[in-house]
Amino acid sequence: MTQMRDELGQLKSLVGTAPTFDVEHIPLDPRALFIDWFRDAVDARVPEPHAMTLSTLGADGIPDARVLILKDVTEDGCWAFASGISSVKGSQLHANPVAALTFYWSSQIRSIRLRGHIEVASVDESVKDFRERGVGARAIALAGTQSDAIREPSSVIHLIEEARQRLKHDPEQTSAGWTVWRLRPISIEFWQGDATRNHLRIQYQRHGTEWTSRRLWP
Ligand SMILES: Cc1cc2nc3c(=O)[nH]c(=O)nc-3n(C[C@H](O)[C@H](O)[C@H](O)COP(=O)(O)O)c2cc1C
Repeated sequence: MTQMRDELGQLKSLVGTAPTFDVEHIPLDPRALFIDWFRDAVDARVPEPHAMTLSTLGADGIPDARVLILKDVTEDGCWAFASGISSVKGSQLHANPVAALTFYWSSQIRSIRLRGHIEVASVDESVKDFRERGVGARAIALAGTQSDAIREPSSVIHLIEEARQRLKHDPEQTSAGWTVWRLRPISIEFWQGDATRNHLRIQYQRHGTEWTSRRLWP
């Protein structure tokens, strides 16, 4: 065995404490269950429960994934996130407006996964999101294009400082490319892990405006 394989083999998984999950009494709408689970995670002090993996489709057909912050779960049932339109993910979402989101809250052995279609939020919403960001985050977004290769590393601090100064004089300045996207799910799975591996899995599927749910084999 390789040393790494040995080390991995010694690590434990599913070591958290699962809250009660009454699969016989789940809401018709998965949004309600997501909000219940999310609030449970916040109450249980799960670190950064709003961090989620966004998976997209690359132009080469290979999936891509990175961690983002959940910005909203809208009344009409979309999961929102924000980033630069010219970033890698921005180009991928433009070319293939589909994505998946994955949450994992290890201390509760809970995971939620969503698959769906991508919609671009209104310009007003994107501008509002941009203005709510901290000054440092805004300066970085104004100074350069996320995911571009850095040609001159020594100029980075200077460009960010310049953008900070511009923001100081014009705090309302926005980045034209800052964008809020919404994932409108076609399926959502709630996974409650169990140390004996008899995991509870509920998968919701959307049919127009209606949702059906079923239990999945662990
Ligand atoms: C906890 C965490 C939260 C993050 N939140 C965001 C976010 O909300 N928006 C964003 O553009 N990048 C965020 N990032 C950075 C992304 O993971 C990623 O590096 C960046 O968006 C570039 O991705 P891309 O090259 O695939 O476009 C976050 C990273 C971490 C680890």
